[in-house]
Amino acid sequence: MRVLGVETSCDETGVALYDSDRGILAQKLHSQTALHKEYGGVVPELASRDHIRRLAKLVAIVLGQAGESPDAIAYTAGPGLIGSLLVGAALSQGLAVSLDIPVFGVHHLEAHLLAPLMEIRSPDFPFVALLVSGGHTLLVDVKELGRYRSIGTTLDDAAGEAFDKVATLLGLPYPGGPALAKLAEAGRPGRFSLPRPLTTRPGLDFSFSGLKTAVLYARNALASNDQSSRADLARDFEQAMVETLVCKCERALTATGHDRLVVAGGVAANRRLREALTDHCRETGVSVYFPSVELCTDNGVMVAFAGAKRLIEGLPVRPLSVRARWPIDELS
Ligand code: KG4
Ligand code: ZN
Repeated sequence: MRVLGVETSCDETGVALYDSDRGILAQKLHSQTALHKEYGGVVPELASRDHIRRLAKLVAIVLGQAGESPDAIAYTAGPGLIGSLLVGAALSQGLAVSLDIPVFGVHHLEAHLLAPLMEIRSPDFPFVALLVSGGHTLLVDVKELGRYRSIGTTLDDAAGEAFDKVATLLGLPYPGGPALAKLAEAGRPGRFSLPRPLTTRPGLDFSFSGLKTAVLYARNALASNDQSSRADLARDFEQAMVETLVCKCERALTATGHDRLVVAGGVAANRRLREALTDHCRETGVSVYFPSVELCTDNGVMVAFAGAKRLIEGLPVRPLSVRARWPIDELS
């Protein structure tokens, strides 16, 4: 079965043709980073206009490269920016009518958390999923495909958002997460004492705004705002984020009794997070799974794959209207 995946929830236009037997047949991804750079963040109106400009061309390229047509189309129906989502939904539904094939909406976070199932070493159900992206920070009890219970979330900023905002504080260009991780490579750990939010009291929720403020104060108190001080601060911020995420994963594994952990979303591309979770899970007898780094951030492949999984397993598939907010628990 071949599924065309269409991702337009934020600032990436992603298209892929995925075959359930042969894997990825073709894929294209256009990032709008350059478009939003001067504003320091995604401008929703510009994002949807750019999806309109790119999407039809990307679909034509992907289908041309694959030389095969899809049996069904899956598009991201939410959560995300409403105008951007509408572009993907409208194009997908129009294309499906012209090809006379089924079309349906996919939950963006389900697509993220299923991405590690595409790897050769892939997790069985059940597992705990840590979803860390620019818009979301969630711990999910994944009982089986399509049965999700959110057990922890952020009270303020998402993990990726915190990376991006701290990067801005340190004078780094948008998008900040990867730039901050790069700067931190040159930093020495242990110079700044930063909080590990909500780790000293029980619970699975996150809060990153206090950590962000602590970085702001530390930056303002620097005698000199030189590159090596900023690198040290980036390193300690990254370490605080990583330790906080590891602590909450450990608690979620204990609370659910699961011995598998899946980590997905843009922040799962972070090298130190991957290393820390790999080490921690090795010590505690937990199996940990990540998508390949390219499939951590938004892309069409994960949407096509999630769509194919749903079709093959006989889960409900419908041409959904788009939703800016859409709790993952509602899929169950
Ligand atoms: O999943 P994603 O592409 O988009 C959303 O659904 O939000 O995640 C993007 C987020 C951004 O905040 C970006 O800064 C962050 O993931 N990110 C990283 C890294 N690569 C991407 N954060 C930390 N370290 C990275 N290497
Ligand atoms: Zn995403």
